[in-house]
Amino acid sequence: MKKIAVLTRDCAGVNAAIRSVVRTAFEQGIEVMGVMRGYDGLIDGELVSLDRRSVSGILNHGGTILKTARAKRFFEESFQRQAVKTVQDNNIDGLIVIGGNGSLMGAHVLASKYGVPVVGIPATIDNDVNSVDLSLGADTAVNVALDALDKIRDTATSLERIFIVEVMGRSCGYIALQLALAGGCEEVLVPELSMDINGMCDEIKEGNSKGKVSWIVIVAEGKAKAHDISGIITKKTGFETRVAVLGHIQRGGRPTALDRIIAAHLGNYAVEVLKDGSSDCCVTLKEGKPVTIPLEIAIRPKKLDVNSYYWLIKILT
Ligand code: F6P
Repeated sequence: MKKIAVLTRDCAGVNAAIRSVVRTAFEQGIEVMGVMRGYDGLIDGELVSLDRRSVSGILNHGGTILKTARAKRFFEESFQRQAVKTVQDNNIDGLIVIGGNGSLMGAHVLASKYGVPVVGIPATIDNDVNSVDLSLGADTAVNVALDALDKIRDTATSLERIFIVEVMGRSCGYIALQLALAGGCEEVLVPELSMDINGMCDEIKEGNSKGKVSWIVIVAEGKAKAHDISGIITKKTGFETRVAVLGHIQRGGRPTALDRIIAAHLGNYAVEVLKDGSSDCCVTLKEGKPVTIPLEIAIRPKKLDVNSYYWLIKILT
């Protein structure tokens, strides 16, 4: 193996993974190209050369130095063929794809349909890659959200108010559940669970009658809009509410130590397995050891054990 390329999505820890890939490859005498702007850059042949120095000083930065895009064109076969042509024209022997479900689905297409050697590194704040305990970026996202939540709690307690905090997660309640548990929140609304808004309002009224005056409700963006929930609570309980939508602050930011450590291991292991001939798989840590998972399994829907989380959140508040 003489030359590989790396293609990314963005979240905290991705730069640390690029650094690990580049420096591991360099150690093995393998040249590394960076694909700019995700699959769009692969289609358009937008590649840059990466050497040891070009990844200096990026370990502690969020986002991706390679920039990224949601490349809708890649769903079309003609553009897939153009992407494969970029790989062939540039004599790329293997590709490392760092990203979430969409990126890994693209990686699976390249490997299974066109025979491009591809290894993925799961990286998504949603932590919804099947068979993967912890994707890159998820730990940072929860910690960023927790930092914001602790500040909101100060005001909620001081002013004896109800806050509705909206977090990311279009079809997955991972961040919401982690945050509710770590932040001691009273209620959490996630796409995986049905919502009993009347029951929640009754609980708030009952709690209030017993002297409980401040509440924090976490809502995953894919379940409902915080402003709508706030309106319903005010209407049904008569209590004033406030809303905080955390949004994209959760995806960026300085990666936690855990995300950097995972990135170091997985970047290194991805190069090793690609060099040894593995493809159509992604790498992850199981009990602290790097392992591979077929992409065909990783891209299946992940089932989160929401019920036990929810139960614990409720008994601890
Ligand atoms: O998949 C990661 C994620 O941050 C989701 O949590 C969120 O719903 C989505 O991406 C937002 O996408 P965009 O940045 O394209 O608006």
